[in-house]
Amino acid sequence: MATLGVNVDHIATIRQARGGNDPDPVQAAVLAELAGAHGITAHLREDRRHIQDRDIYILKQVVKTHLNLEMALTSELMKIAIDVLPYMVTLVPERREERTTEGGLSVREHEKEFAKAIETFRHNHILVSLFITPDLNEIKAAKRVGATHIELHTGAYANATSAGARFEELEKLKDAALAANKFGLHVNAGHGLNYQNVSPVAQIELIEELNIGHSIISRATLTGIDSAVRDMIALI
Ligand code: PXP
Repeated sequence: MATLGVNVDHIATIRQARGGNDPDPVQAAVLAELAGAHGITAHLREDRRHIQDRDIYILKQVVKTHLNLEMALTSELMKIAIDVLPYMVTLVPERREERTTEGGLSVREHEKEFAKAIETFRHNHILVSLFITPDLNEIKAAKRVGATHIELHTGAYANATSAGARFEELEKLKDAALAANKFGLHVNAGHGLNYQNVSPVAQIELIEELNIGHSIISRATLTGIDSAVRDMIALI
């Protein structure tokens, strides 16, 4: 069974809409854990549009499961990560104009930078996961640069508009999970997963953790975090 990492970014999105203190992603993380979440994920973006530095520092102290810090590979964010020491860092590509993380990393194009950063994280006992599309060449590159984990981008699967296209994207995720496993990589997955589309992905045995944010927080605004997290865990 895959475990669930709850991404609390969008609690912070609501907070930032008014620039005050409410609602607090730290409180959301506590409630998500009490509802059974196996991990908490937060994305500290370069533009600080939702999660703030303060959130990451407090989450590190409060989270009892494990904290997965999503970030772009910049020296500023690396310094923060090494100061906070989360359980895991998930490196993601970032573009300022995007609404959410739209693609996977191009590990192949920047192997030296990734290898150097991963070595530094490893030295600080932080696991590193690379957010990539289900592409064999990127999986091989992730292995070469020393990552222990990858997170497969499920966006193409989630956005598929026909049953046929969705099936094809699911097959790509299965093949990628299998290939990554053969290389000894741990496999997580996420992006765009919701209550309607999560089950087939959760059934891919080699996928260890699903990171889900927007759909859970959206439901939580209507039903509360507790039932939104429990409903998702029941599905996966
Ligand atoms: N995994 C990664 C690496 C992400 O960047 C995101 C979005 O922040 C998610 C998972 C969660 O995506 P969603 O909010 O669509 O569930």
